[in-house]
Amino acid sequence: MCGIVGYTGPREAYPIIIKGLKRLEYRGYDSTGVALHNGGLKVYKKKGKVAELEDAIVGKDLHAHVGIGHTRWATHGEPSDRNAHPHRSASGKLAMIHNGIIENYNQLKKELDNLGYSFSSETDTEVLLNFIEEIKKNNQCDLEEAVRVALKRVTGAYVILLLDEDNPDTIIAARKGSPLVIGIGKNEHFLGSDASPMLEYTKEVVYVNDYELAIVKPDELILKNLGNEKITPYVQKLDLELAAIEKGGYDHFMLKEIFEQPQTIYDCLRGRLDASEGTITMSGIQQYAEDIMTANRIIMVACGTSWHAGLVAEYIFEELCRINVEVEYASEFRYRNPIINKGDVIIAISQSGETADTLVAIENAKEKGAIILGVVNVVGSSIARTSHGGAYTHAGPEIGVASTKAFTAQLAVLTMIALKIGYIKGTISQDRYMNLLNELQQIPEKVAWTLKHSSTIKTLAQKYKDAHDFLYLGRGYNFPVALEGALKLKEISYIHAEGYPAAEMKHGPIALVDENLPVVFVATKDAYYQKVVSNIQEIKARKGKVIAVITEGDESIAGMADDVMIVPEADEILAPMLSVVPLQLLAYYIGVAKEYDVDKPRNLAKSVTVE
Ligand code: G6P
Repeated sequence: MCGIVGYTGPREAYPIIIKGLKRLEYRGYDSTGVALHNGGLKVYKKKGKVAELEDAIVGKDLHAHVGIGHTRWATHGEPSDRNAHPHRSASGKLAMIHNGIIENYNQLKKELDNLGYSFSSETDTEVLLNFIEEIKKNNQCDLEEAVRVALKRVTGAYVILLLDEDNPDTIIAARKGSPLVIGIGKNEHFLGSDASPMLEYTKEVVYVNDYELAIVKPDELILKNLGNEKITPYVQKLDLELAAIEKGGYDHFMLKEIFEQPQTIYDCLRGRLDASEGTITMSGIQQYAEDIMTANRIIMVACGTSWHAGLVAEYIFEELCRINVEVEYASEFRYRNPIINKGDVIIAISQSGETADTLVAIENAKEKGAIILGVVNVVGSSIARTSHGGAYTHAGPEIGVASTKAFTAQLAVLTMIALKIGYIKGTISQDRYMNLLNELQQIPEKVAWTLKHSSTIKTLAQKYKDAHDFLYLGRGYNFPVALEGALKLKEISYIHAEGYPAAEMKHGPIALVDENLPVVFVATKDAYYQKVVSNIQEIKARKGKVIAVITEGDESIAGMADDVMIVPEADEILAPMLSVVPLQLLAYYIGVAKEYDVDKPRNLAKSVTVE
């Protein structure tokens, strides 16, 4: 959470920073700020989104060739002008932005309080900044050395960028736990939480590692560890085009990303799945195939939507590979001293590859001897780099805060892994394997078919947009889809929604059912179909409004439901990649009908780099 941008070089810094911040707003949008060096330090900041700051400072002198910018997801201190970053040090000579949490900030603050410091914000960032300044003054050292000394005292996670009034063209940056990318241009450098702010200027980037400090000047990038030893920057070439991070004619990124799914699932299968040959090629999995096959258990670790993908994968792996699977919320798993034995296989699922809880969970498990496989979207991200092996989802940049295309790509990758392992292990018959391969190859087309019916869902959104609560029900492979549908609605439309296993609703949620409660059933044709039909009857008997996701041609449920959303027929193992699509659209269209900012829902952030 929080996006950071920096620039030093011959161009005007402000437009680069503002454009970069707009691309990083998915990381938080509680407040925005920039610090520019132009003879002296100038700081402009404001509660609200980037565009609000931009409007507020029209006409100011924004000329500068070095600057830093921040878009905030509030942790310490409410969203407000004074808590917005950049913060200035007590002397006014330093300006700093920060992404992360300084956990021992209270202790550092007490030390500074005793020295007579006062603070103009409630943030941990201002404390760290003054701590750095105090060390600089006290040790009579340069800023770089002061940052090094200070960071050795810090617990928590951070990326920080600092400007020093006395060092006009230099940005000092450091990272632990939050992402930092540095783009290398001709006599210029760009800094960002991801590569999107620098895409149109350079494709050469360096991913800064934990406990590294960067001294960034227009014509020089020096990387050091906290022991002041130089590190040779590892320059990588970005394989990302600008068009991939723009809206391309859609009203919102979320809609674009929902509609991209035929292509993203195709991209994910491409080069891996060959149905005619009966092969699945995944080198990052192949290496660990023996470990997976012989694992006592597989533990899926994830958060949010990625956790839902893990739940679907649990059903698939247990069915196809006959391996015991557990699915864990990363935040619970990391803190409860889990029993991890050598030879356990952990699959970390993450779109961003930066979610703090997931990252720390796998670091801990790795230390205990587990094999870590990452199913990650963002190439080069921390989770990808921490994992022993794994497979990228290749869904392209996902900008909309509510995850859509990353989920279906995660399902495609996890299904391929399960098919591959089940086949080698012999727990799946040749026939079933070949059939599933063939069907999987057809999923992109079937998603495209589902999307062609989006106008029906738009109409449904108008009908149900004023409901106060929704219930989402499903069984088997469709139970996690019900959870995901409910999550999408909560995120985008701020309507209370709960997902439940369809049978479990008799143990509580049924008490809520009346004529005002829409109940969304994920009721495609599978082994549980008849049971779900009974559950629909139970809701209808209590006058609940039933909206059902059904398989094309299902007259039976169509006859009893108030409204239906149709998906093509598919094997039950693959059905979630289809049945989730109408639920994504329903949430999207309700959010739009309620005139909410669906790409930037309140209080949320896409990349949760704090615990
Ligand atoms: C945030 C996002 C969700 C995402 C979750 C996990 O809550 O808003 O869309 O599912 O984090 O993120 P990850 O990047 O690890 O998949």
